[in-house]
Amino acid sequence: MAELSPQEVVKVANKITPAELASDLQLLEGDAKKFDLTVRRAPYTPAEKTSIFSIFSSNMKSFYVDSSFGWKPLVKKAELFHSQARYIVARRSPSSFSGEVAGYLGWRFVVDETVEGGEDAVVYLYELSISPKHQKMGLGRILVEGVEELGRKAGMKKVVLTSLKKNLGAVAFYSRMGYEIDPTSPSRSEPDEDQNEFDYEILSKTL
Ligand SMILES: CC(C)(COP(=O)(O)OP(=O)(O)OC[C@H]1O[C@@H](n2cnc3c(N)ncnc32)[C@H](O)[C@@H]1OP(=O)(O)O)[C@@H](O)C(=O)NCCC(=O)NCCS
Repeated sequence: MAELSPQEVVKVANKITPAELASDLQLLEGDAKKFDLTVRRAPYTPAEKTSIFSIFSSNMKSFYVDSSFGWKPLVKKAELFHSQARYIVARRSPSSFSGEVAGYLGWRFVVDETVEGGEDAVVYLYELSISPKHQKMGLGRILVEGVEELGRKAGMKKVVLTSLKKNLGAVAFYSRMGYEIDPTSPSRSEPDEDQNEFDYEILSKTL
């Protein structure tokens, strides 16, 4: 049978239901059991939107204010709650004690251009945010390994994300998780440009 094109792979992946994605996450072992993981997509409840935006804002506002992206809450909300966005939302287990969101990872299955002018079906990781009191408990790892597993099952070639250079915690975390500077990142694709003009790197991990 002919191999599916990246567009076809993404089209099929976008039809996987949140329930199907969630059942694949149930296979995660170990630390993942400390958290209840659910998979969500639009439409979101007002409470979910508030939790997602407020964790994002408390972790990232100061970085965005100082960055080339700027702090644009409306633009960010449109991106966060885009119709193709998918989330793994984590709450402390058992969730009956508290419905409080401990952290989340937001991604989309998309077609991404390669430096050679080709195309890959990828998991684009748009947002990963753990509430300050739940950081350094292994949740970031659970969420990243979770989306890597979902991406692999959906036939994605890699996970791609953008990280601000100033966000040293995130840089250290992604390096620990095996992420490297992607060939499309300005430091690799435009080495002759003044790198001070770019306050971010594009990182990726092959699945
Ligand atoms: C970065 C972030 C997602 C990490 O999540 P976390 O749940 O705190 O990380 P984990 O506990 O799963 O850590 C996984 C590994 O990364 C390492 N790590 C995590 N944060 C780190 C930091 N700030 N500095 C150095 N190493 C770090 C841990 O030591 C751990 O290593 P180990 O496996 O050897 O023990 C979280 O701190 C966060 O939400 N930060 C604010 C938002 C943000 O920056 N998001 C990323 C935007 S691109």
